[in-house]
Amino acid sequence: MKRIAVFTSGGDAPGMNACIRAVVRGGLHYGLEVFGIIRGYNGMIKGDIIPLNSQSVSNIIQRGGTILKSARSKEFMTPEGRKKAYDQLKAHGIEGLVAIGGNGTFTGAEIFYNEFQIPTVGAPGTIDNDLYGTDYTIGYDTAVNTAVDAIDKIRDTADSHDRIFFIEVMGRDSGYIAVQSGISGGAESILIPEERQTIDDIVLTLKNGFERKKSSSIVVVAEGDEEGQAAEVADKIKKTIDVPVDIRVTNLGHIQRGGAPSAYDRILASRLGLGALEGLLNGEKNVMAGIVNDQLIYTPFHDTITKKKLITNDLIRMVSILGR
Ligand code: F6P
Repeated sequence: MKRIAVFTSGGDAPGMNACIRAVVRGGLHYGLEVFGIIRGYNGMIKGDIIPLNSQSVSNIIQRGGTILKSARSKEFMTPEGRKKAYDQLKAHGIEGLVAIGGNGTFTGAEIFYNEFQIPTVGAPGTIDNDLYGTDYTIGYDTAVNTAVDAIDKIRDTADSHDRIFFIEVMGRDSGYIAVQSGISGGAESILIPEERQTIDDIVLTLKNGFERKKSSSIVVVAEGDEEGQAAEVADKIKKTIDVPVDIRVTNLGHIQRGGAPSAYDRILASRLGLGALEGLLNGEKNVMAGIVNDQLIYTPFHDTITKKKLITNDLIRMVSILGR
């Protein structure tokens, strides 16, 4: 293998740049020519493919976002789009790919590999931490820290005004960000898709708090919770609770996707980028590089996208004991 390309796709995540840097510098170390594909699969289809050298990835390890830009490509979901992408890769002499992204990225990568057999290794880059085959995904740690910082600030004003705040965090259908930011922010209640909690359960928790003279409370709501998004949950609580309450709702939104990556994410991204590159050189294909129990492993794309990554019962148990 002489020429490879790296791209980022799907929702961006802090640490993607550190991962790109690791792929590029690792590739140069092994004597490869490394190309970058701009805007993920859309750039592959259009042939937006540029050569990268050591300088191209200087001064980016500390930057959020992705220098290669990102997109969710509808065209790549069609056979015609994928054929165009294949033709462009062939025209540029690309023999292997490193795909940095999440579920959607690897779903596309698996279909593409099955159709055209261009060896592809993934690096998990998403704030959601929802990929089977790695303990943590690139960007998750930073997103949790951003959410905790926001929760701490909201706690100040909640306390001054004796209010209940419902704070919505991202995660698509995973509750990881909610659980870890909620525990770290001392939330009274945390709603996640992985665990059923009724409106009555939350009302009971809040009322128990009042009885113990708590004047403010924080409820962290994962965007994918089955009771609905934070505004909807807050409405249901207002209608159900039979004591006077002052409620506010905050949706943290895309602030969770930006910012300088934490040291943890920079290291994780560097390990996974180099791991993906070295896997590719060692003949791995159609797999995602991940770190489980501090060991680098490769998991078939198929498993990363079809198997559910569970939240340990220990964390869930802790929430109910400590959030009193
Ligand atoms: O997958 C990352 C993520 O931020 C999810 O947590 C969220 O549901 C989604 O992307 C938002 O996507 P978009 O930026 O396209 O609105």
